[in-house]
Amino acid sequence: MLNSSEEKTVQDTWALISPDLKKNGVGVFLRFFTDYPIYQKSFRSFANVPFDDLPQNKRFQAHAFTVMNAIDGMVNNLDDPEMLDEMLLRTGINHGKRKLTGEAFEEFQLSFMGYLESTLKEKWSPETKSAWELVVTLIIQKIKEGLQAD
Ligand code: HEM
Repeated sequence: MLNSSEEKTVQDTWALISPDLKKNGVGVFLRFFTDYPIYQKSFRSFANVPFDDLPQNKRFQAHAFTVMNAIDGMVNNLDDPEMLDEMLLRTGINHGKRKLTGEAFEEFQLSFMGYLESTLKEKWSPETKSAWELVVTLIIQKIKEGLQAD
């Protein structure tokens, strides 16, 4: 798990993102679909919405907000790894039913990290980067275990 200074780094920087989960969620998913356009097709409710219309699309916004809320729950529960594991396994199982692969989550991790870097700007130090790398890798690893379960 994370040591206390890594945990604090993650929570302090998340405090700059979490006040606007809708805007930042839209930003993360626009980046994800720019980096890997194929994944927009996984979302039945907005698979065929033109890219430029996505930021205004209520289904897209709602989904982005839902995912960010889940990540918010994870960041706020780093001190309860057992509960966190349950959340992550459940997320993995739910996504496994949609036939999503571990690769999709690894690519999501890259886009998510890229979004944090471009948003946090000068707050994105080597320490911030490695603390986030650790927490997101742990999250994705657990989700991947869930993908294979069930
Ligand atoms: C840490 C990363 C992620 C988290 C926390 C997350 C969380 C969620 C949550 C909470 C939901 C809605 C509840 C549910 O049905 O399970 C959802 C739905 C969904 N997620 Fe994810 N997700 C993540 C990454 C991804 C990735 C990488 C993909 C790949 C394309 C993806 C594809 C989907 C799809 C297709 C749905 C269904 C959307 C719908 O019903 O319209 N998710 N996700």
